[in-house]
Amino acid sequence: MPDSRNWFDPVPEHRRRRLSASRRDGIHIDVDGRRLINFASNDYLGLSCDEAVCMGARGALAESVGSGASRLVSGDDPMLHRLESKLAAWKGYEACLIAGSGMLANIGLLQALAGRHTHLFADRLNHASLVDGSRLSGAFSHRFRHLDTRQLQEQLMQQPAKRRIIISDGVFSMDGDCADAGALLALAEIHDTLLVIDDAHGTGTLGEEGLGLTALHGIAGHPRLIEVGTFGKAFGSYGAYILGTNELIEGLRQRQRTVIYSTALPVALIAASETALALIQRGEPVRRLHARLTRFKAGVAGLGFMASDTPIQPLLIGSDEQALAMAAKLADAGFFVPAIRPPTVPDGTARLRFTLSAAHTDEQIDSLIDLLKALL
Ligand SMILES: Cc1ncc(COP(=O)(O)O)c(C=O)c1O
Repeated sequence: MPDSRNWFDPVPEHRRRRLSASRRDGIHIDVDGRRLINFASNDYLGLSCDEAVCMGARGALAESVGSGASRLVSGDDPMLHRLESKLAAWKGYEACLIAGSGMLANIGLLQALAGRHTHLFADRLNHASLVDGSRLSGAFSHRFRHLDTRQLQEQLMQQPAKRRIIISDGVFSMDGDCADAGALLALAEIHDTLLVIDDAHGTGTLGEEGLGLTALHGIAGHPRLIEVGTFGKAFGSYGAYILGTNELIEGLRQRQRTVIYSTALPVALIAASETALALIQRGEPVRRLHARLTRFKAGVAGLGFMASDTPIQPLLIGSDEQALAMAAKLADAGFFVPAIRPPTVPDGTARLRFTLSAAHTDEQIDSLIDLLKALL
């Protein structure tokens, strides 16, 4: 008889995921007793260890840690509303709803928006949170080839249901490439659908002001568009947000189960995110990130990196074993870049996912480039 000791099938060694307890200190990470330079964090602007951001959190912590209840019971706080207003104004939307994390935001959003009679049209490489939200909603799911708006259009023409939603990552987390958000919105208009863009990796990193993909395409604030973002990446904090029209956000307040039935985010994290937003708006960290990215891309040109203009710079390796061996070589030389393997990416596409941060120094980037030139 199965019990909890033999319930799961064993995971083969090359697919095994390991939690490796590591301390982070700015751009360094201590792994297995070694201090490495971290090229694997989504802390793109280096704000997770920024003094002002930490101070913001500490100030709020002096009063309380947990919020004690969901927002609809007694866990709501004026700081949440203030940050929602600031985010909506900065990103160019009418309204905003803060959620517990990007995962919770997406799962709850799709469950609230879609039901048995809705048809969802999703890019094949969308983040797991969008996939899981689609499943939970009980809607019909149609997946189109990565970035293939032509196939999306065919699917929309074949499926003329009344309630339809196009769903896409903005910046794809494992490939670093971007959706053609303008083309997706044009299709949404022609075929009378909603469009959900999850710009978890684009906000804070894309465009001179870090406003993200929808601003770059000039579509932010469009009434057909719903945008999701997270505080867990460029903001250096934790939590997430959904942006849209007043009516949409009020509808979500009534229906989004991951907000209604979950403890509100601690105000310390809200304070950290608010400070991070002010720093991003000043522009300096975004400019620094762009300078680091330009330097890295110029240095690795011709080495076989996947095409990407975002701080996510993947190097396709292929087999799990080769990717693990390459990651080990980089670690031996002082760089932390773990191998990303299936099922996170499709079979046969194991890769090293390098991520750039404003906190890297030119010297760190140059020595990584030298090493890559020697290894590749
Ligand atoms: C595209 C995308 N959406 C959502 C998430 C989840 O965000 P969070 O880490 O805040 O749960 C991630 C993060 O891994 C992501 O890459």
